[in-house]
Amino acid sequence: MTKTILRALAGETLPTPPIWMMRQAGRYLPEYRATRAEAGDFLSLCYNSELAAEVTLQPIRRYGFDAAILFADILLLPQALGVDLWFVTGEGPRMTTVTTQAEFDALGRGEMIHDTLNPIYETVRLLRRDLPEETTLIGFAGAPWTVATYMIAGQGTKDQGPAHALKAENRGLFEALIERLTEATIDYLLEQVKAGAEVVKIFDSWAGSLQGEDFDRYATEPARIITGELKSRFPGLPVIAFPRQAGDKYVGFHKATGADCVALDDSVSAAWAAEHVQVSGCVQGNLASSHMVTGGEALVSETRAIVQALSNGPHIFNLGHGITPDADPANVQLMIDTVRGG
Ligand code: CP3
Repeated sequence: MTKTILRALAGETLPTPPIWMMRQAGRYLPEYRATRAEAGDFLSLCYNSELAAEVTLQPIRRYGFDAAILFADILLLPQALGVDLWFVTGEGPRMTTVTTQAEFDALGRGEMIHDTLNPIYETVRLLRRDLPEETTLIGFAGAPWTVATYMIAGQGTKDQGPAHALKAENRGLFEALIERLTEATIDYLLEQVKAGAEVVKIFDSWAGSLQGEDFDRYATEPARIITGELKSRFPGLPVIAFPRQAGDKYVGFHKATGADCVALDDSVSAAWAAEHVQVSGCVQGNLASSHMVTGGEALVSETRAIVQALSNGPHIFNLGHGITPDADPANVQLMIDTVRGG
């Protein structure tokens, strides 16, 4: 019996959508906080294969999600290319910037990324050994544009201003960075698949700030190249693309990139997505993560409405973005019971 997530990704309409949740291993869970404390800090947790596998398994044990997502971070790849990365508690990631030709030239390339990333592949191997056989293992990477926004600014930004500025002022350098990240992302994801990832997801969290042709060049095109390369090496490998906040650009994204599934954020309605996006393939999403904080009748009715609106095509139930640390673990159970129990 094929795993439910793989069936949905292959285009099957299932009576009950399979379910997992972005950031399902995270700070809203007391068992995650305990393991992170044992590891010391977030990056030490990412690079400790045993403990990273453990936190990946925690939400599977607690809730029985249909998929597990590898525990790691999109910013490990730039770190493997040579930038310094650290996390400031309560604020987020910080890294040394890449905005000049000299800084770009200092980046590594090719096989060298695996020296840093080997523990991540080991986490994947441990998970394939330890996951229940019905649970699908998802590997992931950031999309080149989203990763570049952090590398150029040295931190998270509200409007990705520094990356847009570099694109305007030195397009050659900006495009060289996107290309380097595209290459490295392919190498990184290929190794995850060799280690046992059954599906890969490409997170383009800041795709929505790219307008018009910029969206096509720097969100769609890299996703198309990455998807094409992965599928040429592993025919049949399912790919989930998440061009967050793409709006109208969600339409046609399956076809333009070759992705099997397009993940939806909660700014689009499920009814609109059924009509305009799901007609081209599987969709994933898109309950607002705030319901995991507030719960109650609104959570139940909105969950039902999404399941209903997307019931005539392939659908994987998920949130529109990651669950937040202030979420109540009981609300996650309520969401799952609602999806599975009607
Ligand atoms: O989803 C999962 O459970 C798998 C693991 C995962 C993490 N980050 C763990 C994490 C995944 C898939 C990511 C992706 C990621 N990381 C994205 C794309 C998805 C999105 O959320 O838009 C981005 C932009 C990042 C970069 C990043 N990592 C930021 C901006 C932050 C700080 C903000 C925050 O939420 O704390 C992180 C830290 C991070 N990555 C945490 C986790 C569980 C929290 C770290 C902690 O334990 O303190």
